[in-house]
Amino acid sequence: MQRGYAAWARVYDWFARATASVGGVRAGCVRALDLDPGDTVVEFGCGPGVNVPALRAAVGPTGRVVGVDITGAMLDRARGLAGRRGWENVEFVRGDATDPPIRSADAVLATFVTSLFPDPYAVVSDWCDLADSVVVAAFAPRGSRPANAALSAFARLNGRLFDVDGDDPLARLDARTTAARRALADNSETLTEARYLRGTITACAGHSRPVAPGE
Ligand SMILES: C[S@@+](CC[C@H](N)C(=O)[O-])C[C@H]1O[C@@H](n2cnc3c(N)ncnc32)[C@H](O)[C@@H]1O
Repeated sequence: MQRGYAAWARVYDWFARATASVGGVRAGCVRALDLDPGDTVVEFGCGPGVNVPALRAAVGPTGRVVGVDITGAMLDRARGLAGRRGWENVEFVRGDATDPPIRSADAVLATFVTSLFPDPYAVVSDWCDLADSVVVAAFAPRGSRPANAALSAFARLNGRLFDVDGDDPLARLDARTTAARRALADNSETLTEARYLRGTITACAGHSRPVAPGE
């Protein structure tokens, strides 16, 4: 899978940037983190860094954004972006999100990553130990029949990137997104959930401290 993401890093970067605001999922996830200026936020499976501008805006110049990804080519793209924009409070670390190279942070974000883990429950539970605020967004067939059919076709077309080769893509996505949600429910004081893109993307936020009113 790492080889797949390395080969597709350039295309993925283009696609993710072109669709970054579609459905409002990325902005919704960053809002759900409930970040304060000065916070440190870690993004696991950060890819080419599409969420980083919104994360930087939320933590401000005194905060820190740390992107972790296992694929070198993705990090090259993320570092290129940071260099071009002159970001100083952003750092990218090559590492495995299932064995985090980070011990503590204020918040953790993972978008379109947890469905790639064989045991999302264990991984997301570990993330809850290292931050009070954890937000996870992933594909799941929670929409209308046509929306789910479109998701199934999209996952099959990109089987290697979705880790659903030769499998029932919807069942796999459903099971892994449900496991990630259950980990947040079991390890947080509060859990909120939002659906995007006609129900095909589920974003869950777990908080172990009170969330500011209006969040
Ligand atoms: C579908 S992309 C999502 C990228 C980004 N989060 C986004 O929303 O655009 C999945 C990313 O997860 C990374 N990844 C997969 N397994 C990983 C792991 N065990 N640890 C860290 N990163 C991983 C891949 O290299 C890839 O960059």
